[in-house]
Amino acid sequence: MIISYLLRKETIMEKLNIAGGDPLNGTVHISGAKNSAVALIPATILAHSPVTIEGLPHISDILTLRDLLREIGGNVHFEKGEMVIDPKPMISMPLPNGKVKQLRASYYLMGAMLGRFKKAVIGLPGGCHLGPRPIDQHIKGFEALGAEVTNEQGAIYLRAEQLKGARIYLDVVSVGATINIMLAAVLAKGKTVIENAAKEPEIIDVATLLTSMGAKIKGAGTDVIRIEGVESLHGCRHSIIPDRIEAGTFMIAAAAMGQEVLIDNVIPTHLESVIAKLREMGIRIEESSDQLLMVGGQKELKPVDLKTLVYPGFPTDLQQPMTSLLTKANGTSVVTDTIYSARFKHIDELRRMGAAMKVEGRSAIITGSAALQGAKVKASDLRAGACLVIAGLMAEGITEITGLEHLDRGYSQIEEKLSNLGAVVWREKLTDQELEQMQNS
Ligand code: EPU
Repeated sequence: MIISYLLRKETIMEKLNIAGGDPLNGTVHISGAKNSAVALIPATILAHSPVTIEGLPHISDILTLRDLLREIGGNVHFEKGEMVIDPKPMISMPLPNGKVKQLRASYYLMGAMLGRFKKAVIGLPGGCHLGPRPIDQHIKGFEALGAEVTNEQGAIYLRAEQLKGARIYLDVVSVGATINIMLAAVLAKGKTVIENAAKEPEIIDVATLLTSMGAKIKGAGTDVIRIEGVESLHGCRHSIIPDRIEAGTFMIAAAAMGQEVLIDNVIPTHLESVIAKLREMGIRIEESSDQLLMVGGQKELKPVDLKTLVYPGFPTDLQQPMTSLLTKANGTSVVTDTIYSARFKHIDELRRMGAAMKVEGRSAIITGSAALQGAKVKASDLRAGACLVIAGLMAEGITEITGLEHLDRGYSQIEEKLSNLGAVVWREKLTDQELEQMQNS
């Protein structure tokens, strides 16, 4: 527990330097999906015997969740991407503060602990600041299943005599609410139907794990999910899906600076909207069953308009990295985020690097092509960090990125992966003067 805290503290005191301009070449292996992992790990609470999850990414969110499962009494062993969780000794310990505040996905502890113990106390989740991120649909789902939910001093208290299956229509298509309701419903009595459910691949991955644990779930990946409650769940072994957002980030980096970059360990159908958008810009992409070959060398990139939408639409998590690439296109592009209204904190940082862009309402308007220049910039959130890394690869001179605690929450071994592709990237401790400047800013 102490080690992961120290790791986190350390990355706050570091910066990532990128000497831009070098072409990318070679193969990058994509890690397991962060947004699946952060739900799969809490889901194991529901079992009564050990669950093994293989292929987990090396990111700080996973270490935080490992520590949280240990805090509630679980035996957790994590090595080389494989986590073995024995949930049997877990107790319904309240978690109103502390590590739950470090990540958004700690809200999955609500569904999982409510499902197993019929009660839970979880501090309101942290995570990236992307504008308002309510959890009213999660709560509506828990209440429909029979839980009493109250918010007391920043923590959510959930209690139920018994959970009973219900018909729940989500007013907003939400990944988190869909998964959380599934977690709470698998051990409820009777049948639950989630209508207007989200369809993201991560939802199918969680349903696959729960099914291997003995749950009865039909329709995951469509907008109606039907769950028949069971008496108990058991351990199993599960292999996580590849991270489509990490893959998309490397695809965008390759589109910006690549000669020939092979993205290995992907499910191309998870990235259809991204492949289509990059092709529209003039990028050549060859697909095979679990790889994508990005072929560079295009003289000119075309500007495009894009709108983020729920899956299978263009993912909001790749909107920020795309704005870096679009500085290279010849003309004006408009990027609209329909999911998060304020996911534009990266725009000011890109402007520092010489980008011509502005924000109007929910849209960023980007005028290209602009030659980016290295600068000192700060990642305000996880995908803003990815966007600045791509901009750094494209820029002339050295870019220094701080705010690495965000990047490290979601990208596994990013320097190693970029270095292997030929980028010049290194981490450095912040000097005392830089630390002081950061504290005052
Ligand atoms: N929403 C509500 N009420 C709710 C839940 C959501 O109004 O009860 C709204 C949100 O404010 C947002 C929209 O519905 O406008 C979609 O939110 P969703 O619940 O789908 O997002 P989430 O589950 O909180 C996950 C990912 C995000 C990703 C979104 C959208 C995790 C831990 N997070 O968040 O990932 O952007 O889905 O795909 O799975 C990231 O990886 O950088 C990241 C932020």
